[in-house]
Amino acid sequence: MIVNVDDFRLAAKRRLPKIFFDYIDGGSFGEETLRRNRRDFDGIALRQNVLTGHDTQDLTTTFLGRRSSLPLMLGPVGYLGLYRGEGDILAAKAAAKAGVAYCLSTFSLKSIETVARAAGGNRDFQLYVLNDKGLTEELLTVAERAGAGALFVTVDTAITGIREKDVRNGFRAATRPTPRMLANMATRPFWCYDILRAGTPAVEILARKPGFGKGALEQAANLSRRIDKTLNWAQIEWLRDRWKGKLVIKGILEPDDAMKAREVGADAIVLSNHGGRQLDSAASTISVLPEIADRTRGELELLIDSGFRRGSDILKALALGASGVLLGRAYAFALAAGGEAGIARMLSILESEMTINLALMGLESIEALQAKGADALRIGS
Ligand SMILES: Cc1cc2nc3c(=O)[nH]c(=O)nc-3n(C[C@H](O)[C@H](O)[C@H](O)COP(=O)(O)O)c2cc1C
Repeated sequence: MIVNVDDFRLAAKRRLPKIFFDYIDGGSFGEETLRRNRRDFDGIALRQNVLTGHDTQDLTTTFLGRRSSLPLMLGPVGYLGLYRGEGDILAAKAAAKAGVAYCLSTFSLKSIETVARAAGGNRDFQLYVLNDKGLTEELLTVAERAGAGALFVTVDTAITGIREKDVRNGFRAATRPTPRMLANMATRPFWCYDILRAGTPAVEILARKPGFGKGALEQAANLSRRIDKTLNWAQIEWLRDRWKGKLVIKGILEPDDAMKAREVGADAIVLSNHGGRQLDSAASTISVLPEIADRTRGELELLIDSGFRRGSDILKALALGASGVLLGRAYAFALAAGGEAGIARMLSILESEMTINLALMGLESIEALQAKGADALRIGS
């Protein structure tokens, strides 16, 4: 039975081949940051104010210059089309229907133009800067043409953290399914049927490019190899000139880096440790949010992700100065388990958790929560 976001994780575990479930679920090395991301929410309590007489709660907010029905969006998650046939499109449709934005990953199977045509809605694009400048330019042009509002430049993946489950499953090295993987996939017939019905998985934007191979795994491995390891602030300045929409830097955890992002003209940052998938032993994002909010003093919009599974998690981040939350695994699992309807249900669960908690806090809206700020919380409880 699905009652909360974690239930989707278990439902996805039953439906997905182990290699894909582990790929989504895992963190890097000893998974310490993965655990911190959840654990650090526990040290923050919500204040319960009673008898305030509000009978409705308004969850609408504005972030990245757009109105959103909920204070969240679907963040960039690669390979959605391998967890559910046409996964990129289904996620975008669910977001558009719920009135929230979505951000398409560089590692999506469908191009942002195809997704935009099929789903509409407020869309953004996540860019991994590649050492192939021509291809980076092409990704930007396609995103512009597709009407992407914000460009999320991910900066915490110069080198990929080792996710040990992927190594054990042989997923990291694979450029095409091995016999062991195929045997594993065969244990999940509903998944097989659904994926094959959508056609052989492949990265649309690389379809006619020489040197990338054919299947999704081979194309993705070749694309990963081209991620620019030497990415630096000068290139972010170049991107700032190049991209006319909102520029968001994703993967910041230090106040000095946040200040630098502001200096180079970023509109927003995402406090992110990539869901505990990169630097293991990095701080949780919720624990660094107060310091970064204090340093940036409202001059830089702060978004946040990593570990958000409950409505109360989101309320805590908003009270501490974030203007919106990006979901990662929460919706990837909901998509794997239930397709578009799964994401819709997951969003409605978070909506009701936020509504009920706000009511019990004695608050009438997200705006009221943000106005109250850290006074809405007890920190260190
Ligand atoms: C399976 C998976 C794939 C991801 N792919 C990308 C990606 O392509 N680009 C990116 O910027 N972040 C990617 N991320 C990171 C997410 O955008 C986000 O930072 C992270 O999932 C947040 O943590 P959470 O999953 O605990 O909510 C990925 C995360 C997961 C779990």
